[in-house]
Amino acid sequence: MPSRRSFLSLMAAASAWQALAARAQELFSPFVGSDPENVERMVKLAAPSSGETVIDLGSGDGRIVFAALKDRPGVRGIGVDINAGLVAKANAAAGAQNLADRAQFLHQNVFDADLGKVDVIFMWLFPELMRLLRPKILAQARPGTRIVAATWGIGNWPADVTDERPGNYTTVRLWHVPARIEGAWEWEVNIGGINHRFEALLEQQFQQAEGAVRVGHRRQLIQSAKLQGRNLQFLLSMTLPGSGYTGMSYSGEVRGDVIEGMIEVRPPAPEGEELETITTLRLPWRARRSTTIGYFAPTGTDIS
Ligand SMILES: C[S@@+](CC[C@H](N)C(=O)[O-])C[C@H]1O[C@@H](n2cnc3c(N)ncnc32)[C@H](O)[C@@H]1O
Repeated sequence: MPSRRSFLSLMAAASAWQALAARAQELFSPFVGSDPENVERMVKLAAPSSGETVIDLGSGDGRIVFAALKDRPGVRGIGVDINAGLVAKANAAAGAQNLADRAQFLHQNVFDADLGKVDVIFMWLFPELMRLLRPKILAQARPGTRIVAATWGIGNWPADVTDERPGNYTTVRLWHVPARIEGAWEWEVNIGGINHRFEALLEQQFQQAEGAVRVGHRRQLIQSAKLQGRNLQFLLSMTLPGSGYTGMSYSGEVRGDVIEGMIEVRPPAPEGEELETITTLRLPWRARRSTTIGYFAPTGTDIS
């Protein structure tokens, strides 16, 4: 057992080390206030609306949070910063502007910030720090959360919107946190009285989605997939056993293990009829995450 004296000196060393670590991180991305024009660009791109909460990771004197709240009465703001002096200054400024009920600044390391309840994440940190925050953002932020960052990107995650201005070397970028769609999914569609069972395998890299679908013994790749936040869209044109070559445009909202939306179905033209005479059907779409990968039928299984 360590003596009380050695325990106390251990504690003192630990807290000194913590203070040094905090100072090192602060120096890693020191306070430099964003240029007012860039603050305005960031807030404009984020477009926070009433009922939403924004957070600035490394909030400095609070200028981005204050700009996001200005003229938007229903918006709430949180700032986190590792520098206690800046946090105190930002909270005092919130009080002076009668914003203390909507703006709160926390003395916190960005890696400890709660990202699960915010709608917009602002960042203007050193590129290493922004890149290191990527897994935390993808794990904690809700699908659809907007990220707006100045100057640097977030590694190889392509931005959804890039704002570049002539004569201003700061690029401002916007990303939407994508829903997780990777894995096996299944759904049914009834076309002309025939029930078709779809088994899909989807893959994703951030907002880029790809996938393959099987219906009976037919297989096809999905095309033009777009994933923005919770919204997924793709095209699928394939021969459906018993129905013929069918074009389908899917759009739906990903809610955990379910995707719900619509399918626009263009059934094949009956023999002798022009394709233009065929009316497009709008059918409800409900896909479920599947525990088995139905895309691969076991060898020897009759799937006709
Ligand atoms: C470049 S300034 C940006 C300030 C403000 N967002 C703006 O654009 O005006 C970076 C801020 O991040 C803070 N910071 C650096 N590392 C941090 C960390 N690990 N956790 C929280 N804040 C940090 C610094 O103290 C500094 O205030």
